[in-house]
Amino acid sequence: MDRIRIRGGARLKGEIPISGAKNAALPLMAASLLTDAPLTLTNVPKLADVAFMADLLRQLGVSAEWQAGAGLGDGGRYRLQATDLAGTAADYDIVRKMRASFLVLGPLVARAGHAKVSLPGGCAIGARPVDLHLKALEALGARVELEDGYVIASAAGGLKGARIEFPFVSVGATENTLMAATLAQGETVLLNAAREPEIDDLGRCLIAMGARISGLGTARILIEGVSSLHAAEHAVMPDRIETGTFAIATAVAGGEIELTGTRAELIGAVIPLLESVGTEIAETNRGLSIHRNGVRPVSVDVATAPFPGFPTDLQAQFMALMATANGVSHIKETIFENRFMHVPELLRMGADIRVEGDMAVVTGVERLKGAPVMATDLRASVSLVLAGLAAEGETIVNRVYHLDRGFERLEEKFSRVGADIERQSV
Ligand code: EPZ
Repeated sequence: MDRIRIRGGARLKGEIPISGAKNAALPLMAASLLTDAPLTLTNVPKLADVAFMADLLRQLGVSAEWQAGAGLGDGGRYRLQATDLAGTAADYDIVRKMRASFLVLGPLVARAGHAKVSLPGGCAIGARPVDLHLKALEALGARVELEDGYVIASAAGGLKGARIEFPFVSVGATENTLMAATLAQGETVLLNAAREPEIDDLGRCLIAMGARISGLGTARILIEGVSSLHAAEHAVMPDRIETGTFAIATAVAGGEIELTGTRAELIGAVIPLLESVGTEIAETNRGLSIHRNGVRPVSVDVATAPFPGFPTDLQAQFMALMATANGVSHIKETIFENRFMHVPELLRMGADIRVEGDMAVVTGVERLKGAPVMATDLRASVSLVLAGLAAEGETIVNRVYHLDRGFERLEEKFSRVGADIERQSV
């Protein structure tokens, strides 16, 4: 099993290309199920989760041809074509390994009138139910039953447009419903829809496929169903979580980095926070530049929230930054109930953090100390890499397969800007 070794203390200097977004690529791939025509996706990151989604689609009868990108940060190209579906079932073994597999539910019911998809169950960051996905599908006229841990959904006569108000914001439920509604008869209105940029990206791809959608980027999305979708080509948006992670990493380690192929508005809530911590951020014509000189970062408070708020997927990384900042920071997690698994590991590196319910109180220490650590999810794992950049001595991050699910060539990107980091096979 691979691990990552970091020797802390190096300042970062240079340029890092930002890859296509994992959390945009996964629903976009699922959208290929909506049509028998080819969907070509470019700027696709080479990640374990993306390969996993391609395997699931192949099982469902989709031909998935992959062409890798040339260099670091150059995305690959997937040509996906679901000419005839070979099945409409996603088994427990698949959904358990990657929750985003659940995103095939809406497209399968819309296209084939039937789907049997395993309930995902809980995961390391929380219970993560899917009730909103199921209620929305029922509102579109599907019959939904739960049997032996599976969701069995059917809509023999096709789905019908409806007015659906989500009780709270859910990225996945908005995506599943948006995809399903493109092929429903009549008009669907989604209220309190998620406004994450990945929804916008999915919506723009569906429009390129012939869907009729308005209100993207707002909490009210209107979909006028069409009878079929057609071929399209779409470039996956830049990864805003990767962008935020490298921006925070620069604040952690100090130095000057340009992140290319990304956009400031994708991390709009993060920029003012990084500025008040003591980092300078500017837009460049290729992306964003981040600069922090030798002065110690200053503590600030943060609470996670749906977009355009501060993303839960950057909470762990921000905590690694606050662990060495000057002062006390209150970090509140409002999206997932159990997303502090990185805390005990940061404590092993000498951090001073107290968790009180959904709040972590982080008292910055002058210096963290390297240690062997591991985490149980992707973002928690990368926060330990960031902590290692600022720590004295050597940090070994185990269970690197979590990182490989969502960060493309992470250690290569860090080492080319001067971090002392390497992947070791043990
Ligand atoms: C997406 O998960 C992302 N995953 C997550 O990224 C991200 O953390 C999350 O959105 C929040 O931004 C993908 O895009 C593949 P939600 P999703 O539905 O769609 C509750 C990463 O590291 N909820 O917006 O599953 C849920 O439990 C991952 O890349 C219900 O109660 O998130 C949570 O508390 C991790 N019932 C909240 O809503 C439902 O039916 C928001 O979840 C659905 C959700």
